[in-house]
Amino acid sequence: MDKKKNISMAVIKRLPKYHRYLRELMENDIDRISSKELSEKIGFTASQIRQDLNNFGDFGQQGYGYNVKELYNEISAILGLTKIYKTVIIGAGNIGQAIANYTYFDKVGFSVQGMFDINPKIIGLKINDVEVLDIDFLDDFLRKDNIDIGIICVPKNSAQKVCDMLIRNKVKGIWNFAPVDLQIPEDAQIVVENVHLSESLLTLSCLMNDDIN
Ligand code: NAI
Repeated sequence: MDKKKNISMAVIKRLPKYHRYLRELMENDIDRISSKELSEKIGFTASQIRQDLNNFGDFGQQGYGYNVKELYNEISAILGLTKIYKTVIIGAGNIGQAIANYTYFDKVGFSVQGMFDINPKIIGLKINDVEVLDIDFLDDFLRKDNIDIGIICVPKNSAQKVCDMLIRNKVKGIWNFAPVDLQIPEDAQIVVENVHLSESLLTLSCLMNDDIN
């Protein structure tokens, strides 16, 4: 059964936070937690937590709370974290290197198989044991290595070209850091998730100045 069916986007967006906290609890050898305790840690109300988790099955037990490991495993499965995703990073500059060096992604199953750049000074460098290859090899690499996710970290004006190449080679997901709305053909079987740190920063600035009006 597809457990994500009929689950609202708002709930799906909250799942990574549950996942992060449950992982932390497991690392601290805590094996059960009530919705009230989870609520104090996570910042959602206890009733919100119960409602969210009820979407996916019958987890909590009255008077016992949640079994942390069971819940963690279930949420991992819903988040699609029960397999290894092969990724490539295109653009091995500041952001590309930061992602490659962030070991958490690897721990939760996103394995960087290749990095690509256009700059001869960067090509050949090893970032966290992955050699940066010339962008000219990307097409071939994607075709042969069955890559699941392309991480776009190139300047804005090169992002669409890279995106087209990823789609052409049947990559299933794009994690896009370039500040551009990528054009995706309607029939493309691909999911795009954009990351814009600046939007978060501007939200912060707005909230800090919410007495303006
Ligand atoms: P950077 O200049 O350090 O790195 C970009 C890399 O892409 C360079 O190494 C460059 O040689 C390479 N490159 C350029 N054209 C290429 C192509 N056609 N194929 C392969 N590689 C190519 O830039 P930085 O700071 O890492 O930013 C990368 C992208 O991320 C930019 O589009 C930037 O605007 C964006 N950005 C996004 C943020 C976000 O929150 N989403 C935050 C900061 C930057």
